[in-house]
Amino acid sequence: MAVTRTFSIIKPDATRRNLTGGVTKMLEDAGLRVVASKRIQMTKEQAEGFYAVHAERPFFNDLVSFMISGPVVVQVLEGEDAVKRNRDVMGATNPANAEEGTIRKTYAESIEANSVHGSDSEENAAIEIAYFFKPEEIVG
Ligand code: TYD
Repeated sequence: MAVTRTFSIIKPDATRRNLTGGVTKMLEDAGLRVVASKRIQMTKEQAEGFYAVHAERPFFNDLVSFMISGPVVVQVLEGEDAVKRNRDVMGATNPANAEEGTIRKTYAESIEANSVHGSDSEENAAIEIAYFFKPEEIVG
């Protein structure tokens, strides 16, 4: 299996509860390596652009408000089959449906405040990484 990259966000509910380390440990224990990381306060425009695919969904405005409600940690993760590996350790979108041992089962508060984002395809991973990182900020 090839070593690939994916994009992750530690969301405001997790940074607020001082869970940056806890989430990162679970990512690392799942075989993912943090090759870029920065803590940022997203702007409304940044969050709207990032979630543009969901612009017509009923939860869009609440989601954008939540994502700018506090700092986030954006990360590039590297590992074998990184997109799937990350999705597996994240768990289901709704923590009520997430499996034991996943980040969302362990930490998420609700379907909205669900602690982490992870790219859903390699194509989107490349787009999302480029949205937040310059190539020289990623050190593999
Ligand atoms: P989605 O891409 O469906 O899930 P995932 O993050 O697991 O890839 O949705 C993006 C985010 O939108 C999700 O993490 C939380 C939010 N969301 C809601 O607030 N309510 C909802 O009903 C859904 C489906 C998502």
